[in-house]
Amino acid sequence: MSKKIIILNGSPRKSGNTAALISAFTTGAEEAGNQVTEFFLDSMNIRGCKGCFGGGKNPDRPCVQKDDMDKIYPVYKEAEIVVLATPLYYWTISGQLKCAFDRLFAVAECDPNYRNPPKECALLMAAEGSGFEETLYWYERLEKHLGWKSIGKVLCGGVMGVGDIEGNEKLEEARKLGASIQ
Ligand SMILES: Cc1cc2nc3c(=O)[nH]c(=O)nc-3n(C[C@H](O)[C@H](O)[C@H](O)COP(=O)(O)O)c2cc1C
Repeated sequence: MSKKIIILNGSPRKSGNTAALISAFTTGAEEAGNQVTEFFLDSMNIRGCKGCFGGGKNPDRPCVQKDDMDKIYPVYKEAEIVVLATPLYYWTISGQLKCAFDRLFAVAECDPNYRNPPKECALLMAAEGSGFEETLYWYERLEKHLGWKSIGKVLCGGVMGVGDIEGNEKLEEARKLGASIQ
């Protein structure tokens, strides 16, 4: 059975290492018959969460702020799998991804108990080094808090410049993760 997948791409580099992981993942996922929608967050107008706790009134446009998150909300609503894709920036996810993810809180606000819609999730990351521990801690806490289930993580260290990832075995790992989705 095909699944709907949303990818939030938090890298600012269109042809960077995160993009290569996404491309490999997408190839696998689409070949397995799934439907993938990617958002390149860096080129979108997405402001940070205001922490107003005033959202959740309109399920189609749940945030009080009106910006490009309104393009993401309907796709997020339909998606069964949420892929968080990001370079490692100072031991954590990029600001672009953090901004967008925080704004998904407005969807939880549609529920009287702030319950998040049940989803599966995956993590794709690129980094110069290999200091993924803090992000993994965050990801696992997030998974527990949201009540989501992770289907996999692809963490590619040792890549700095655009193109460094070429020929890296992690690309095949990302493709296989995509292809495993049925
Ligand atoms: C602001 C900034 C912070 C970074 N912080 C880290 C870091 O903490 N650890 C690391 O290994 N690499 C770090 N990097 C390197 C990137 O993670 C690496 O270049 C990655 O391949 C970029 O992915 P991209 O090509 O998808 O943009 C940093 C890069 C930038 C620009």
